[in-house]
Amino acid sequence: MVSYKDLGLVNTREMFAKAIKGGYAIPAFNFNNMEQMQAIIQACVETSSPVILQVSSGARKYANQTLLRYMAQGATEYAKELGKNIPIVLHLDHGDSFELCKSCIDMGFSSVMIDGSHLPYEENVALTKKVVDYAHQFDVTVEGELGVLAGVEDEVSAEHHTYTDPAQVEDFVKKTGVDSLAISIGTSHGANKFRPEQCTRNADGILVPPPLRFDILKEVEKRIPGFPIVLHGSSSVPQQYVKIINENGGALKDAIGIPEEQLREAAKSAVCKINIDSDGRLAMTATVRKIFNEKPAEFDPRKYLGPARDELKKLYMHKVQNVLGSENKA
Ligand code: G3H
Ligand code: 13P
Ligand code: ZN
Repeated sequence: MVSYKDLGLVNTREMFAKAIKGGYAIPAFNFNNMEQMQAIIQACVETSSPVILQVSSGARKYANQTLLRYMAQGATEYAKELGKNIPIVLHLDHGDSFELCKSCIDMGFSSVMIDGSHLPYEENVALTKKVVDYAHQFDVTVEGELGVLAGVEDEVSAEHHTYTDPAQVEDFVKKTGVDSLAISIGTSHGANKFRPEQCTRNADGILVPPPLRFDILKEVEKRIPGFPIVLHGSSSVPQQYVKIINENGGALKDAIGIPEEQLREAAKSAVCKINIDSDGRLAMTATVRKIFNEKPAEFDPRKYLGPARDELKKLYMHKVQNVLGSENKA
């Protein structure tokens, strides 16, 4: 049993309380390798932002959970070395079983998500409560989810949204004891969040997706005032990266994300954690594709992963400064 407190990590409790009061959201960035971790920490140290490092079960399989945990521990030391002791959370993204959550808690995670959103309501309540009861013994915080996002939630595929029913949130929070709640208001995972036929075109011919359901968010806030809300699937799919990818041999079609102004708006409310993964994938892929195309003789991984890391850092700094509003909140 390793306590996250000995690794220099914190849980989400104080972070979220401050974020709600301050009208900003904490960035939750997924990582799977060293370059992503370096980019996240460099960006958040330079902007003095608190940060949540997210590990999905896919990441655990890809990189090995022990290695990722030591990397997160290293990240706390790395941040100090870069000159700023920012608050860092190590969070399990989309945990799908009690056993997985327990294993992460036992090895030093400071926060876990138990995603029972695809289960019948009472089963979601029971599973989430079981995880909360275990986690709280060790002061580990827990994120639950109500409502299903369209797209692919890790290994759970949901063709259509089931928006969160505001009538359920109070009961869910009370019965489970969760510390934060992910809700479904129109975001979805991946780079294809909307089909073109769901969008309208603005004067410049750019596709504009349907707005997020702020009415549902407001209703949720009314039922559980001041309770920390989480938005998954919050990448904006920057079109400059899609363009670079497609100009350099890629084949991304109809890639559409959530407009950043809407996320900025959400961050001012009780939404205090915003999950971003796909945008980082696009930034890295665009950089690597361009280098491969322009310098076909290059074969030193540092010569393409290094610039990809730099681009990722730039993207994360932009998110912190212009979208989430968490700059100087560390
Ligand atoms: O919500 C899903 C995250 O983007 C993680 O994706 O399961 O491919 O690591 P992954
Ligand atoms: P995106 O695919 O929009 O980046 O969402 C990531 C996410 O929700 C991770 O849990
Ligand atoms: Zn997610």
